[in-house]
Amino acid sequence: MSKALSENALTRLTDIVGPSGIVSGDATRRYLDDPRGKHHGQTGLVVKPEYTEQVAQIVTACGELGLGIVPFGAGSGGVAGHMSLDDRPVVTLSLERMAAIRQVDARSNVIVVEAGAILADVQRAAEAVGRKVGLRLASEESCTIGGNLATNAGGVNVLRYGSARDQCLGIEAVMPDGSVLSDIATVRKNNTGYDLRHLMSGSEGTLGIITAAALTLFPSTEKGLTALCAVPSPDAALDLLHALTAQFGTVVTAFELLSRLGLSLALKHIPDLPDPMEEKHDWYVLLQVDSAAAICELIEQWLGEAFETGLIQDAVLASSQKQADALWKLREAAYEYNRLEGAFVTSDTAVPLSGIGTFIDEVAAGIARVDPALRANFYGHVGDGNIHVNIFPPEGTASNRQDPGQQALARRLSDLINEVSVTLGGTISAEHGIGRSRIADHERFADPTKRRIQQAIKQAVDPRGVMNPGALFRD
Ligand code: LAC
Ligand code: ZN
Repeated sequence: MSKALSENALTRLTDIVGPSGIVSGDATRRYLDDPRGKHHGQTGLVVKPEYTEQVAQIVTACGELGLGIVPFGAGSGGVAGHMSLDDRPVVTLSLERMAAIRQVDARSNVIVVEAGAILADVQRAAEAVGRKVGLRLASEESCTIGGNLATNAGGVNVLRYGSARDQCLGIEAVMPDGSVLSDIATVRKNNTGYDLRHLMSGSEGTLGIITAAALTLFPSTEKGLTALCAVPSPDAALDLLHALTAQFGTVVTAFELLSRLGLSLALKHIPDLPDPMEEKHDWYVLLQVDSAAAICELIEQWLGEAFETGLIQDAVLASSQKQADALWKLREAAYEYNRLEGAFVTSDTAVPLSGIGTFIDEVAAGIARVDPALRANFYGHVGDGNIHVNIFPPEGTASNRQDPGQQALARRLSDLINEVSVTLGGTISAEHGIGRSRIADHERFADPTKRRIQQAIKQAVDPRGVMNPGALFRD
């Protein structure tokens, strides 16, 4: 429990948001959950503002009261960015009551939404005017645009549409001194000095609170093609992607790698999922094409030829939305089935595409050298070089996060994965951010000049350290 907030602080915050905007006691529990079950957050209080000016008043009050603020979207981030883990005095500021779609302008391909808007609701608002939002995440029915931007979320459509930051045209945010940055530009080109929209995207709540954003919209294509293809290796998956795009251009929206272990864990832990193929294969790619019906038909034919030439070993094409959803479930439930299987190491590394095969081979060999009985699931966004590694204890052995031996082993294996990634020119965090879980890795692997500039920016924008203290930097 964090240091009890003073009566004075509670009264002042209640004056701003009213009693319905305050959550305390047991009801705060849902704000403290870590989806991986690794951490448990500490907080005394959750405040739920209804409009930007209230956010500004809360920030001003917290600055004066010496309270830190932890911004909260839906709590689905995987690096403990949304929860304080120590006993410093903080309040959690949830944007859940700021979920309005402010403007949809199909002709300009722009949507302006408040930070607490749920991604799937924003997608539906775009679809209602014949457009689409580029972001697609497994957690889209709960995660919020503010959280997506603050963490620069990735997901399965980065290959075609970029990360959250790439889709953001403008931003409104409350800065640590309580001032409001109103930079909701809805133009596609805006070359006016340091780009604060990009600075705030991925700042993980450490520079201010995003309260609204303008996102770019994309054409809603006529037809989708969802296929699960068995391939001999991850490098063969990349060959398939290059061959497909050489022929058809940028029609591939998602290109996701699954391993046999991953597929078997999906079938083991997720009820009512059919095994999609009769034969077992080592590797699979789940691909999504969004294009005109005629192009999808040509790609179907092309996949048949790829099977004849051995580029793919087998394929299942979804013939209904229900089948497409079932294939996607094999991939999107990865977070859940890895957790249920007892993953005690999870990574978010990305390497240049040419290094994917070497990355997987070297990490697999390194894990086997440590203990050949450990099991590793390599999966993820192969089209982005962003392969997640999840490591489980040997079959029949339970994972125990409290066990110091397992903790030391997890540290050693994480280091191994990060070292291989960085040696290949990759990163330790491709789409989840640093939060509180990956600070040590960031300190170890980031370029020192980059880190020094990041710290200088934090100091300049938030000299009192009000915003998300303990995230991104140790302090
Ligand atoms: C995924 C999350 C872990 O891709 O990023 O499943
Ligand atoms: Zn991912």
